[in-house]
Amino acid sequence: MKIGILGAGNLGTALGRRLAGAGHDIVVAFARTEDKVARAARTMGGGARPGSPEQAARHGDVVLLSTPWPVTLGLVDQVADSLTGRVVWDTTNPFAPDMSELVLGTTTSAGEEVARHAPDAAVVKAIPPFAELLSSDSAEVGGHRPGLFVCGDDAGARATVVGLAAQIGCDPVDTGPLKLARFTEPQGMLLTNLAYVQGMGPRITSILVQD
Ligand SMILES: NC(=O)c1ccc[n+]([C@@H]2O[C@H](COP(=O)([O-])OP(=O)(O)OC[C@H]3O[C@@H](n4cnc5c(N)ncnc54)[C@H](OP(=O)(O)O)[C@@H]3O)[C@@H](O)[C@H]2O)c1
Repeated sequence: MKIGILGAGNLGTALGRRLAGAGHDIVVAFARTEDKVARAARTMGGGARPGSPEQAARHGDVVLLSTPWPVTLGLVDQVADSLTGRVVWDTTNPFAPDMSELVLGTTTSAGEEVARHAPDAAVVKAIPPFAELLSSDSAEVGGHRPGLFVCGDDAGARATVVGLAAQIGCDPVDTGPLKLARFTEPQGMLLTNLAYVQGMGPRITSILVQD
């Protein structure tokens, strides 16, 4: 599959490495320097290459959004035309710049805001496990694949992200409508606080179990 990645940082690079390893064709974009984007592509391997945000958006059947929240909607506005008809996999946490709190939630979500700014894309919200976990040899925690809640209004787009999530070693759960991102995004805040404020570290995850 052709995949564009917007965000050449920790998460975009870790996801790209796993997706490239699964055989996907990747164009990555978006950092303050071209050198950083080129380094991210090299780290991903598998023929991943750097591009502009518009090139990455146009390239992808699926376009991952892995950017800090304060710059996310501006970037989505910039590439909105190129996202027409794409599945946009939004991985962002709507954190304040100091990561101490969510800047929106419960009455809307980052996923829904991204969808408002990219009205011709099928936006799917699914916050992956920590980049450190994805970058390690095994993403499993305590013998479990990391859980990944997948919210979106387009069932086909959700199925696409569910498939990719399974390929990168996660245990995806199709949670239905994008509106439920209002309740999955706070979990990202909780896990980040547990990992980096309360000292549990990034080898933690949450899973859904069912009889
Ligand atoms: N890291 C994780 O484990 C993880 C897990 C789940 C969800 N998330 C979410 O995923 C998103 C990305 O996280 P991350 O840890 O990958 O962040 P990151 O390492 O800081 O990467 C962000 C990327 O965006 C670029 N960027 C930021 N501001 C920019 C600007 N003004 N102009 C151009 N490029 C800019 C950065 O480039 P520069 O480095 O050049 O600034 C970098 O390539 C966030 O919303 C985060 O909450 C992260």
